[in-house]
Amino acid sequence: MRLFALVSLFLALAGATFAQSSDPTAQRGLTYALANCAQCHATDKVSQSPINIAPPFRELHKRFPDERLREALLGGITASHPTMPQFRLDPGQATDFIAYLKSLQ
Ligand code: HEC
Repeated sequence: MRLFALVSLFLALAGATFAQSSDPTAQRGLTYALANCAQCHATDKVSQSPINIAPPFRELHKRFPDERLREALLGGITASHPTMPQFRLDPGQATDFIAYLKSLQ
């Protein structure tokens, strides 16, 4: 289990650097966002999105209530953005992702 401890330590350090989040759920959501979404969307509290028209994640709650966002994450986000690849999260990932979004507020 040493590897697991190392990975956890790494994620904790990365989290401290990127989002100052210590909640492990939000932490997993951030890790997911960094791996899958950060090339287009701003994932922190201040940056511009790398792709101008992609909304920074800290603004998503202004467009979508949590429940709608959760449904969209589970059902696959495709609607109205052909430039964005399709993603479909499992329920655990959706919970993590929403916890991460809350940590931005
Ligand atoms: C290749 C670039 C790219 C990646 C990667 C990407 N997105 Fe997007 N996303 C976009 C763009 C561009 C838009 C805005 C499209 C528009 O408004 O027409 C967008 C919009 C969104 C929206 C708003 C949808 C709406 O109807 O307003 C959500 C939610 C979203 N993305 C979530 C995600 C999540 C979660 C990930 C990672 C799992 C992700 N995106 C990865 C480019 C991307």
